[in-house]
Amino acid sequence: MIKPLWVSRVKRALLSAGTTAVLAAGLLTATATTSQAATQGPCDLYAAGGTPCVAAHSTTRALYGSYGGPLYQVKRASDGATKDIGLLGTGGYANAAAQDAFCASTSCVITEIYDQSGKGNHLTQALKGYWPGPAAGGNDNLANAVEAPITVAGHQAYGVYIAPGTGYRNNHTNGIATGDQPEGMYAVLDGTHYNGGCCFDYGNAETSGDDTGNGHMEAVYFGNSRSWGFGTGNGPWVMADQENGLFSGVNAGYNANDPSVNDRFLTAMVKGGPNQWAIRSGNAQSGGLATDYNGVRPNVSGYNPMHKEGAIILGIGGDNSNGAAGTFYEGVMTSGYPSDATENAVQANIAAAGYHSGSTSTGSLTPGSRISLRATTACCTGDYIRHDDADDKVVISSVSSASSATDKADASWIVRTGLANSSCLTFESANEPGLFLRHYAFQLHLSADDGGSNFAQDATFCPTAGNSGTGTSFRSVNYPTKYLRHYDYTVYVAGDGGSNAWDSTSSWAQDTSWLVASPWG
Ligand code: AHR
Ligand code: AHR
Repeated sequence: MIKPLWVSRVKRALLSAGTTAVLAAGLLTATATTSQAATQGPCDLYAAGGTPCVAAHSTTRALYGSYGGPLYQVKRASDGATKDIGLLGTGGYANAAAQDAFCASTSCVITEIYDQSGKGNHLTQALKGYWPGPAAGGNDNLANAVEAPITVAGHQAYGVYIAPGTGYRNNHTNGIATGDQPEGMYAVLDGTHYNGGCCFDYGNAETSGDDTGNGHMEAVYFGNSRSWGFGTGNGPWVMADQENGLFSGVNAGYNANDPSVNDRFLTAMVKGGPNQWAIRSGNAQSGGLATDYNGVRPNVSGYNPMHKEGAIILGIGGDNSNGAAGTFYEGVMTSGYPSDATENAVQANIAAAGYHSGSTSTGSLTPGSRISLRATTACCTGDYIRHDDADDKVVISSVSSASSATDKADASWIVRTGLANSSCLTFESANEPGLFLRHYAFQLHLSADDGGSNFAQDATFCPTAGNSGTGTSFRSVNYPTKYLRHYDYTVYVAGDGGSNAWDSTSSWAQDTSWLVASPWG
């Protein structure tokens, strides 16, 4: 009875990007009388459309108006304890302050992303597949819990930051489409964080962790890989990973209707049924969805009918390919092929949720500025990060106004935009232009940029609030649980606990916290 009303309101909302949130709010009021809660989530809209969620994952908000359970679990490095992070209120937003309190003075990883649908389709660390991951046993890494800070409706929240090597999976699901059964899915992603590696996916994959052939997957892909399909421009593109192919349309390679999209917050959708599938995308902060493909299965054998297996992956390919990067905030999978009208209503709900980028408190860490970095541990408060001409090692030592001009310059750095991530930083020597701080075997060195992606990653550090509560900490972009640390007066990237001597938990929070000081030279 109520459906024609909200469909027409959503259509009207989509006519004007500027009024989407207002009209979406009207939509919520209109439907509130028939639902148990004052607000609705994307999964209430899918249910109303006859295509209910069978998996619903988010670290930022409830995806049902009535959901009041935990969103995700974090584990801290200091003592290995875990904690569920829930909501500020039923149907509301993540309680990020609970994570901040639990993870204070240490680092945390996201160990589990709970399924809000009631089907038990939780996501946990992806285990070794055909391809091994970098963690123990060939498993994939877990995401650093603070690496993707944002706000949603003004509330602090954290996304799931997938550095290459990171991945989540569930091979024993309940209610997810198999064979040629119809399904839909969407993910809200950071449209500025991607790469060309295989494969930043969210959706349906093999239950074995191995590539079992064409048509054995159906997942949203986001990135600028050209290894299989691609669209217009240089990417990144939303495509559908249907196994042995990221498809941008009916052709295996180029399809002219799939645009490059890089909205800071991006809605990426894929749906598929018997000889029918579609890609849709839009700005997750405002406006409607574009249909980037809608038609028959790819013109390559093996995809009609499909052979979906019903596992769920996040951040990796079906065979545990784990070279991809991206950031995930929320996503769902449905039973049944959602109508465009239902998806439009979901997009209006996402836009009304109020995603905004987090404040990056980099202070004086502006690219181009010169700084010195002072230790905060009681032993060493007169010490600064420096190199000298004797070797390429990076240490801390005392620098004062009485120090020589060379010592002062050795302890001075030019802040550069992060070579591997423009939201992060790289440090160039003030007196050795062209030489940069980078880690190698987890120890810091002063080295020339060889132009390679390994160097770029090893030389990129992401500033965060100081782990001890003082100053600033610098997280390694490619080892996201390791931070710039002094240990025995030498500088490393170190975890809070780990296999190297410099991963010692003793004074880790202080040793990884630095004061950004005026440059000595
Ligand atoms: O379809 C692209 C990728 O190919 C899949 O994600 C992976 O399983 C295979 O390597
Ligand atoms: O780096 C100097 C000191 O060496 C650190 O504070 C401590 O972790 C180690 O003993």
